Amino acid sequence: MLLGIDVGTGGTRAVLVDHSGQVKASFASEHAGIHSEHIGWAEQDPEDWWRAAREAIAGAMAAAGPGEIQVEAVGLTGQMHGCVMLDAEGQVLRPALIWCDQRTQPQCDWLTDKIGFERLIELTCNPALPNFTLTKLLWVREHQPQIFARIAHVLCPKDYVRHRMTGEFAMDMQEASGTLLLDVTNRRWSAEMAEAAGIPMHWLPRLFEGPEICARINATGAQATGLAEGTPVAAGAGDQGAGAVGMGILAPGSVSATIGTSGVVFAATDSPVKDRLGRLHTFCHAAPGRWHVMGVTNGAGLSLRYFRDTFAPDSSYDALTARAAEIPAGSDGLMWAPYLFGERTPHLDPNARAAFVGITASHTQGHFVRAVLEGVAFSLRDTFTLFEELGVPVKAIRLGGGGARGPLWRQIQADVYGHSVDLLAAEEGGAFGAALLAGTGIGVWKSVEAACAATVRVAETIPPIDVPVMNEAYKQYRRIYPALHEITRS
Ligand code: XUL
Repeated sequence: MLLGIDVGTGGTRAVLVDHSGQVKASFASEHAGIHSEHIGWAEQDPEDWWRAAREAIAGAMAAAGPGEIQVEAVGLTGQMHGCVMLDAEGQVLRPALIWCDQRTQPQCDWLTDKIGFERLIELTCNPALPNFTLTKLLWVREHQPQIFARIAHVLCPKDYVRHRMTGEFAMDMQEASGTLLLDVTNRRWSAEMAEAAGIPMHWLPRLFEGPEICARINATGAQATGLAEGTPVAAGAGDQGAGAVGMGILAPGSVSATIGTSGVVFAATDSPVKDRLGRLHTFCHAAPGRWHVMGVTNGAGLSLRYFRDTFAPDSSYDALTARAAEIPAGSDGLMWAPYLFGERTPHLDPNARAAFVGITASHTQGHFVRAVLEGVAFSLRDTFTLFEELGVPVKAIRLGGGGARGPLWRQIQADVYGHSVDLLAAEEGGAFGAALLAGTGIGVWKSVEAACAATVRVAETIPPIDVPVMNEAYKQYRRIYPALHEITRS
C-alpha cells in the first residue's frame, strides 16, 4: 500500500492506496483551528499538524482492517505557502503564518519596490503576494527580530510533518514555487531573490522533484507513527499540485476547476507561462519537466457556506440548491461578486469586498443561492479569460471539490465556462495524488503520467446548455469589480 498524507487547513487526512489506484482506507483528523489575533491574520501551531498526522495515519491503518498492512512508501501534500520557522535544534520558534494570512502587504510593497515588479516576475515567475512564504518571513524580521535572529530552517506545513517523521529538511519544486524564493524557470532556489530579500540560503531546505524519494522514516518517526523505520518518503507537492496529479492534469490542454473553500482553475503547461501582470500563479508542476498556471478565487465554496450560515442557518445545502435549481440561468439579473476574503485572480486586491448586485422585490431565496453559485463560476471564468489572453490551451476541463458534487453547480460551471466538463470516477483530493507520487518514486509506475493513466478515469461528460445567457451575464459581472473598487478603496 501507498500512504498519502494531506496536511490541510481544517485537518489532516491520510489515505491508503493500492497499486490499482483503489483507496482502501482513509481517515481525517481535525486541526485545532486558525488563530487570528487581528482581522486578516491566520496562524496555526505546527505541533498540532503533527498530532493530527499521527492520528490520521493510525486511523487509516485501523480502518484498513486487521491483518498486516505494509506501507511501501509515503507521499506528502498540504496547504501551501505557510511559513514554519525552526531554530538550529529543529524547534518551532513561533506559530506558522499560513496561506490565508493577509498581513504582509507592506512587506510585498517593500519587496516590489526593492526588486522591481518586472524583475520579480523574471526571477520567480510571480509577483509578491501576501499569501507567499517569503513575505511572512519579512514580517517576522520587521516585527519580531528576536525570533528572526534564531531562525535556522524554513519549511512549509507538510515539510514540517516530513521533518518530524524523517529528520530531513526537504521540499518539492511545486511547493517551493509558492515561497517566492524559487527560480521557477530553472527549478532551483533563486540566490538573487534570497540575497535581495536578506534571507540566508542555508535556511532553505533541499529541493526535490515531486516523485523523488527524499527521506526515510527514522527511529523516532517510526515510534510516533507505527510506520516501519526506513520506509521511503517521496517529496510530494503542495495541495494544488498533488490534487492535479490525482485528477490526471499533466499534459498541456488538460485543466481542472476545483471549488473547495477557495476555487482554483489549474492548467498544466510544458514550459513556464508568465503573466507580465502577475495575475496568475506560475509554478513548477509536481511532475518533473512540467509547469502549471493557476488562478485562485479566495471565497468560492466559502461563498455558499457564508450565505447559508448568515441567511439560512436552518437550511441544508440540498434544500438551498433545490430552490436554486428552479430559477432560470442568469438568476433574473441578480449577481454575486464573491470577494469575501479580498481576491487573488484576477484583481490581486486583498481589500476587495463582496456584493449582491441587482436585487428586486421579486427575487426569492432560490435566486440568491443561484446567484452565489453563478457568481463563483464567473469568478473562475476570469481565470479562463486570462488563459485565453496568454494562449494557455484548454482542451478538457475536469471538475473537482464540492463544486463537482451536485448536478446544479456542475451544469452552471459547464454553462459559464462555455465548455463541456468531465467528472472523474473517483476524486480523492490531494492525499491520493501524493500517494501516486510516492508510488512513482518507488517504481510502481514508471512516471507520474503512467501513474495517472493507470488510476484516473473520466466517468461522465456534461455538455453546456445555457451558454448565450451566461455569456451575457458574465459581461455584466465583469463590470461589478471596477464599480465596487470605486466605492470600497481606501
Ligand atoms: C494555493 C493556496 C491554497 C492553499 C490552501 O495557492 O493558497 O490552495 O494551498 O489549500
